[in-house]
Amino acid sequence: MPTLHIQTPSATYPVIIDRLLHDERAQIQHPGKVLLVSNPKIAGLYLHKILPKIRASEVFVCIVPDGEVHKTMRTIEQILECAFAHKLDRKSLMIALGGGVISDMVGFASGIYERGIEYISIPTTLLAQVDASVGGKCGVNNAYGKNLIGLFHQPKAVYIDVDFLSTLPPRELRAGLAEVVKVFACFDSGAFERLEAESSACDLGLDSRASGLVPFIQRAIEIKAQVVEQDERESGIRAALNYGHTFAHVIENLTNYREFLHGEAVGIGIRMANALSQELGIMSERESRRIDSLLDRLGLQQRYSVRDVEEFYKCFFLDKKSTNNTLCFVLARGIGGFELRSDVSKEQLCKVLGKFA
Ligand SMILES: NC(=O)c1ccc[n+]([C@@H]2O[C@H](COP(=O)([O-])OP(=O)(O)OC[C@H]3O[C@@H](n4cnc5c(N)ncnc54)[C@H](O)[C@@H]3O)[C@@H](O)[C@H]2O)c1
Ligand SMILES: [Zn+2]
Repeated sequence: MPTLHIQTPSATYPVIIDRLLHDERAQIQHPGKVLLVSNPKIAGLYLHKILPKIRASEVFVCIVPDGEVHKTMRTIEQILECAFAHKLDRKSLMIALGGGVISDMVGFASGIYERGIEYISIPTTLLAQVDASVGGKCGVNNAYGKNLIGLFHQPKAVYIDVDFLSTLPPRELRAGLAEVVKVFACFDSGAFERLEAESSACDLGLDSRASGLVPFIQRAIEIKAQVVEQDERESGIRAALNYGHTFAHVIENLTNYREFLHGEAVGIGIRMANALSQELGIMSERESRRIDSLLDRLGLQQRYSVRDVEEFYKCFFLDKKSTNNTLCFVLARGIGGFELRSDVSKEQLCKVLGKFA
């Protein structure tokens, strides 16, 4: 099984794609203390399988509540409290066992504990495997918005095992696939074609161990790694990972984060971004239809009706990525390329939004 090596200006670390859960020999070794952080659901399913694999001087467990609503400073306090109570020192390690919510919080908590200790990520959702666990962006939400408090802190290692996905609700699994489509559509037409060819649930093994996903997970991580290597702090090309997201964030906002999972909103956002690409003449109708139909086949059929074009338009400016009131859109150029565009007029945008009314 492959190991990818991520190299950023601040760190180099392996992403080990392997059978951590079922390989008897797989171990995580650390000479000092370890604090493993998880939530009740994931701990119930996997703690008994992971704990025996950790070889450390002492291992402690911190269970935090499940859900995006708990991705807050309060839970960070809880993790820090646990770390202090067990007297973790600067040589100690934290381990994140869970989805993107857990990995974002453990990255953050370990990044500020005694000015920063190491952490390892064991992502258990597809979204966390292909996106959240790699790249070092971590943080929490507050009343003003999502991910507004945080830092860049790269993990010491990431362990990916698709076997975790066998217990993931199918809806969560499909939502994760939106991020895979996102990177392939912008960066790799070959991988996009291969996913098209194998997009039935049966080919991908979505009904069982999801083993058919391994090559796609690997390719998605490779792409993210290349992007992060070039632009760790998102001053340029890393923004391309936001394809579909400018629209998705508005949809999530207008539906109070209740109607769609993030990946589902991204699926809709990709369709909207493609409509804009067509309007700007950088994507053909045929290419746009290919992406639509791939999303459909992967089970991302959700639709959103724009009730009030003006209201939707205003919401773009709430996004933390809009600077000085300028909107910047990441758009796929055909399939396999992208453009960052900050020259889109209000008229062009409203015309596109009108198509989703
Ligand atoms: N740091 C980044 O670069 C980055 C990138 C993308 C997303 N994110 C963040 O990731 C978060 C979303 O992550 P997510 O989609 O993984 O959600 P999540 O962590 O909330 O997990 C979704 C649900 O699945 C459960 N779960 C996790 N693994 C399971 C398993 N193997 N079996 C059964 N249930 C399981 C969780 O307990 C949770 O209820 C958001 O907060 C987002 O901001 C961060
Ligand atoms: Zn996303």
